Amino acid sequence: MFAETNFTRKAGRAESVTMLLRKVASNEIRTHYFYSILLRKHGALIESNPTFTHLLEEASKEDVSHYHAINECIFQKHGTLGFANPKDTIFGYSRQIKNSLVKLLKNLCLIEASSVQAYAELCALTLEYDYRIFDLSYRNMHENILHLELVNDALNLSALNEHLITET
Ligand SMILES: [Fe+2]
Repeated sequence: MFAETNFTRKAGRAESVTMLLRKVASNEIRTHYFYSILLRKHGALIESNPTFTHLLEEASKEDVSHYHAINECIFQKHGTLGFANPKDTIFGYSRQIKNSLVKLLKNLCLIEASSVQAYAELCALTLEYDYRIFDLSYRNMHENILHLELVNDALNLSALNEHLITET
């Protein structure tokens, strides 16, 4: 079965899979970086809930693990890594984003949602075609759906905290 996706309207399946793998590799290293900043710079705002902090740490670890697994896939298919240097994908972020809890969380929401969409497209493209990429994409998609829920909860909590601060 070959499901047409946004990418496959313009490119063939193999090329689409490669583009999507590069996209998720870039997304995963960026979310890992943002979770690390979140825990390092804004821990005080979320440490009132230790379970929350633990889940954010787990999301950070899972995303860097996804990044390495996806890069290995790209390497096996093409003999090159997704990126020569992961820092290439994260240098563009301004201090303004890094210093703002809400901006960090909103960026995390956008990137996690983009990853979920890209993994869904990878699943559609590799079903009955490449079981290894399908399995990896399916597993990563579900973990990133949980990350997206977690970041949405964190965004609601930070909005609630801001509301309580302005109320008192
Ligand atoms: Fe994630």
